[in-house]
Amino acid sequence: MAVKHEIPTYEPAPAERRLPASRAECETRDAQDALAGRRAKFALDPAVIYLDGNSLGPLTHTAARRVEGMLHGEWGRDLIKSWNVHGWIDLPKRLGAKIARLIGAKPEEVLVADSTSINLFKLAAAATRGRGTRRRIVSETGNFPTDLYVLQGLTQLSGGAAELVVVPRERLLEAINEDTFLVVLTHVHYKSGECFDMKAVTARAHAVGARMLWDLSHSVGALPVDLGASGADFAVGCTYKYLNGGPGSPAFLYVRSDLHASVEPVLTGWMGHDAPFEFSDDYRPATGMTRHRCGTPSLLAFASLEGALEAFDDLDLDDARRKSIELTELFVAIVEAGGAPAGLRLASPRESARRGSHVVFAHADGYAIMQALIARGVIGDFRAPNLLRFGFAPLYVRYVDVWDAAEALRTVVESGSYRTSPGSVRAAVT
Ligand SMILES: Cc1ncc(COP(=O)(O)O)c(C=O)c1O
Repeated sequence: MAVKHEIPTYEPAPAERRLPASRAECETRDAQDALAGRRAKFALDPAVIYLDGNSLGPLTHTAARRVEGMLHGEWGRDLIKSWNVHGWIDLPKRLGAKIARLIGAKPEEVLVADSTSINLFKLAAAATRGRGTRRRIVSETGNFPTDLYVLQGLTQLSGGAAELVVVPRERLLEAINEDTFLVVLTHVHYKSGECFDMKAVTARAHAVGARMLWDLSHSVGALPVDLGASGADFAVGCTYKYLNGGPGSPAFLYVRSDLHASVEPVLTGWMGHDAPFEFSDDYRPATGMTRHRCGTPSLLAFASLEGALEAFDDLDLDDARRKSIELTELFVAIVEAGGAPAGLRLASPRESARRGSHVVFAHADGYAIMQALIARGVIGDFRAPNLLRFGFAPLYVRYVDVWDAAEALRTVVESGSYRTSPGSVRAAVT
């Protein structure tokens, strides 16, 4: 059974899809862009074309101000009183409600807490607890490593009661069978950028009585996601990529509201207790998403995320998707104009409806090429073994940036200048 790929949003009219054919036309398109005003919210170096917001989003002015405000106006001044007077205690819920709008969830269905890896463990462990006699968790070969590693750890912890079945995308639907209690997939693949049809895969999981958990790390903030319409049970995701929350900013988790009472946490920390300040010896889960809190939140990182989310106020995600499609299509078109430079091959789906907001090209010398691009001020990243990854965050990447970055990539590859460029020794973070 093949997986159907489709993103049921924004069908651009052919006229709108005409891509700029020159740098001057890119400038015109930038001037007409409905999202153009949002770029000013970001602290961007004009000498840099930043195409790595799918890995670490840039600083926003509001994030900087909000952290400053928490440091000096709250912690520095009001000390521990801040938990109440500045509402620190409710920040995980408040920020969750803001993210909910971006992923098609109800405000009370999303909580900001911990990291994506930990949230994945928390929800997968809760699902394992409710597995009945079923044994199987299904995921995809080549899913983001943390997703697979966390599930491996969890199945080991189960002492063999649960098993992880990891199969290539083409065999996924048939692997989801009556023995499956949980399916864990990443909506937009971190390497290829390929998207799953969330509704179709979730429907398959539900048809056999399994729960569906989506990792939205490469989707949230870049394309519309409709968890409600897809019927998904659980979701997790990062906030330091397209949401620009800052390095290591807290992640989010989603549990569909009709499951709130029945999904019992496994990491039963005191902040998820029904009455944490009773300090009782016995655990009693809080109601709603609060039970999925664990320990004290890293509040300065919450402040940074809170400020960053202001860039999404009143954003129409269909506008963001439309622009993101155009930026990615333009990039591919320029890089391949008259034929892609020798050795360079598109490694993302060509059809934009099947692609998230990043584009990947493969080249045997990918690492050195990316280093040469970074030296020229075009920042993307490299993913082993040979992938050059470019993220197109629609809130701040301009059409001219795409034009210039694509030209730079062509020049670096065609000239072979990357062979003599410094930085071909691989750094710890690529
Ligand atoms: C799909 C996906 N999940 C999870 C993560 C990271 O999880 P964590 O924030 O816990 O390191 C990433 C990071 O790139 C990712 O791409």
